[in-house]
Amino acid sequence: MGTNRIIIVDDEKDLLELLVNRLKRKGYEVDFAENAEDAIPLVKCHFYDIAIYDIRLPKMDGISLLKETKKIQPEIQVIMLTGHGTIETAIEAMKLGAFDYLAKPYNLSELEIAIAKAIENKRLKEKNESMKTIIQQQNSFQIIGENDKFRALLDLTERVSNSDVPVLIEGESGTGKELFAKALHYWSFRAEEPFVAINSGALPEQLLESELFGHVKGAFTGANQDKKGLVEAANGGTLFLDELGEMPFTLQVKLLRFLETGEFRRVGDVRERKVKVRTVAATNRQLEKEVANGNFREDLYYRLHVLKLTIPPLRARMDDLPFLIDFFIKGRKTLSSEAIAALQSYHFPGNVRELHHLLERGILLSNGNTIEESDLLLSNVEKSSQKSLINMYSSLEQLEKDHIYKVLSEMGWNKTKAAEVLGVSVRNLYRKIDQYQLKVPI
Ligand SMILES: Nc1ncnc2c1ncn2[C@@H]1O[C@H](COP(=O)(O)OP(=O)(O)OP(=O)(O)O)[C@@H](O)[C@H]1O
Ligand SMILES: [Mg+2]
Repeated sequence: MGTNRIIIVDDEKDLLELLVNRLKRKGYEVDFAENAEDAIPLVKCHFYDIAIYDIRLPKMDGISLLKETKKIQPEIQVIMLTGHGTIETAIEAMKLGAFDYLAKPYNLSELEIAIAKAIENKRLKEKNESMKTIIQQQNSFQIIGENDKFRALLDLTERVSNSDVPVLIEGESGTGKELFAKALHYWSFRAEEPFVAINSGALPEQLLESELFGHVKGAFTGANQDKKGLVEAANGGTLFLDELGEMPFTLQVKLLRFLETGEFRRVGDVRERKVKVRTVAATNRQLEKEVANGNFREDLYYRLHVLKLTIPPLRARMDDLPFLIDFFIKGRKTLSSEAIAALQSYHFPGNVRELHHLLERGILLSNGNTIEESDLLLSNVEKSSQKSLINMYSSLEQLEKDHIYKVLSEMGWNKTKAAEVLGVSVRNLYRKIDQYQLKVPI
């Protein structure tokens, strides 16, 4: 669950040193102080998961330090260390919001268990809170595709799902970018943790930043209370940044830092926070081009394109069409052969999403059990522009035929002259005239 930060305050130097080293070795990030006066500034500028306070401290005592700490960081889990005969104080500490206490002398493994419990408690609290604000995404979904390249992409997705390297998903609109983002999450050990999505294009810059990283009370007009950002809500899970290409330039710097260290600040806050989140970003723009045009930061692009999944457009994997049709229709109706042919020659600018919508509409519009071509309402513009494209590219022969006909007409059907103009032999020209059955118009 991310690197947990701990602060320890104890005036017994040897014990303190022992504890700090032990916990650092266990992978915690540890700060420490020998008295409350030195501890408070630390609590003010760093964000901790756990505090471990000795109750008896030189000037200001552990109980007062606990109260101060809880005022500054209500979510912090405090474990109190008590000497002999201070059980009453320990109980008072619990009433004041301490999570647990240990009587001295304690052994280190006892303390470690207490820390683990405190961390779990904090995590559960955070999770409950994020459940309230985030609609949990359904985790049952299917990705349809038999196409070789598509299968290779699915394999890759599965293989990298457990890594925490950020992922960039590129693909045209409707190709399934969000679906792949969910796959990365639900196929990984994070499946039970939150999947939090945010659309980088939907909000103005300041709101986007506070949505993403949170804000403190008074950070800007309307910020009436502290607010947790989505990066915190996603802690332990996946943050899905949709439409990354739309993210404002200045926010890109903060995102890069977050990707590299997991650290961020709420808007208006001086304290640094840290979470452990797998970031998945999606874009339907080609970010490399956006970088070249100066719209996207190169350093952020390089950080992200280490692991890039490029989802092919539907028209590049038309062998999947029958599978997708079956999947979407789910046996409700059948398609006439004309309808199937029409879909096969369609180029799906809106990709899989468009196919899905076309079929749903077809089901609604069709009478009886068969969806006819006309029920698909393939837009005429699309179809005719597609035909003219086909004409342009498929008819080199037609072009040649038209050209020879034109030259022959200009030359009054004098084959020798026409052959000269066309740069071919007379014999060759006769063959072409024969092939294309060119005749002097009557
Ligand atoms: N391979 C697939 N198998 C099944 N359903 C798919 C597949 N690809 C896409 N879909 C479906 O198509 C729709 C669009 O997919 P998705 O929202 O993931 O696309 P997108 O790339 O994020 O699009 P946009 O760029 O417009 O946001 C969704 O309903 C999704 O479930
Ligand atoms: Mg999307």
